Amino acid sequence: MRIGSILENQSVEKRIAVTPEIIKKYTSLGFEIILNENYGVHLGIKDQQYIDLGAKISKDEVEVLGSSDIIVQLGMISDDKSSYIKESQTLIGVLNPYENSEKLKNLAKKKINLFSLELLPRITRAQSMDILSSQANLAGYKAVIESFANFEKAIPMMMTAAGTVPAAKVLVVGAGVAGLQAIATAKRMGAIVFATDVRMASKEQVESLGGKFLFVEGSENLETQGGYAKEASDDFKKKQEELLSETLKKIDIVICTALIPGKKAPLIIKENMVNNMQAGSVIYDLAAIQGGNTAFTEVDKVVVNNGVRIMGESNILNKLPMSASNLYAKNLFNFVDNLFDKENKKINVNLEDEIIKKTLII
Ligand code: NAI
Repeated sequence: MRIGSILENQSVEKRIAVTPEIIKKYTSLGFEIILNENYGVHLGIKDQQYIDLGAKISKDEVEVLGSSDIIVQLGMISDDKSSYIKESQTLIGVLNPYENSEKLKNLAKKKINLFSLELLPRITRAQSMDILSSQANLAGYKAVIESFANFEKAIPMMMTAAGTVPAAKVLVVGAGVAGLQAIATAKRMGAIVFATDVRMASKEQVESLGGKFLFVEGSENLETQGGYAKEASDDFKKKQEELLSETLKKIDIVICTALIPGKKAPLIIKENMVNNMQAGSVIYDLAAIQGGNTAFTEVDKVVVNNGVRIMGESNILNKLPMSASNLYAKNLFNFVDNLFDKENKKINVNLEDEIIKKTLII
């Protein structure tokens, strides 16, 4: 069995699916690994490093795609490249089936297995494969670092002979995986942290990290059985707006992370709320690519409105691609490990297994 991976489109994706440290794990399962030439060079990983670990390097993308039983990637591969994928091969990645439906329709004509890892169920057995958690955790951390770097005052309280510097006040909107890491990071750096979420279950988690939970009345029924947020009612949105409008007047930095699976991100911080914030405040909108939680958010731009800087990127993970790749590659390996029938040395698409059933899109 052979696992292969080709270069991503590096103008949008710097992460890689196969890191040197994961090679041994694949070879111990009996896999051969084939990668495109210069696969990790942009991250400081030389081809020789992979070769020394037993991987094959090929100059020819077509060879990598055509000779691999399993192709592992980050994003969807382009149409011209997917034409080299043959019957009975398996492609695993974050394939974004809602946006790539046309490409997927073409691939569906071939008899291949396609797995999209963002569809993994949030069950205990899938935790080691959970790319949404591993990547959201890093995104939450990096959003704090980016916003603090753009804030023109100090973060922790400092008592000096020249006077006291007050601690910065941070608000985290959405206390899921990214939000909780943002709270932990901001606390560690000395900020005073507030957080809000529609799911009541997150209150305890926010408080255990030292954050103050801003409770909006009516959030009792806004969690799905799977633990995700439901879309809030107009009444809830009004109450949330009233609470946040007042709070935001005193906040220095806002980290937005609120998402509803399969829907556009909710607009939570509206124009008038931004206009009432203090000049010099910073908003980092991690939901930018899904439509944004903040008015004025523009993907990959820093918008200054009334002295408030609003930023959000298409892929913040490109700012820590090595850490993100290391975790992604491990998640991916754990997924392949579960998919692989070790006795018969073949892929077993066992539809009784919830992990396989939920991620199999073709
Ligand atoms: P997400 O990325 O879909 O959403 C981020 C956060 O935004 C969520 O906490 C959500 O409740 C919140 N949100 C949505 N609309 C909002 C609004 N209008 N106002 C304020 N907040 C809003 O969520 P994520 O981070 O993927 O986590 C979702 C759930 O999955 C959580 O319950 C988490 O604990 C659970 N989970 C379970 C895992 C497991 O393996 N058992 C692993 C990771 C997450």
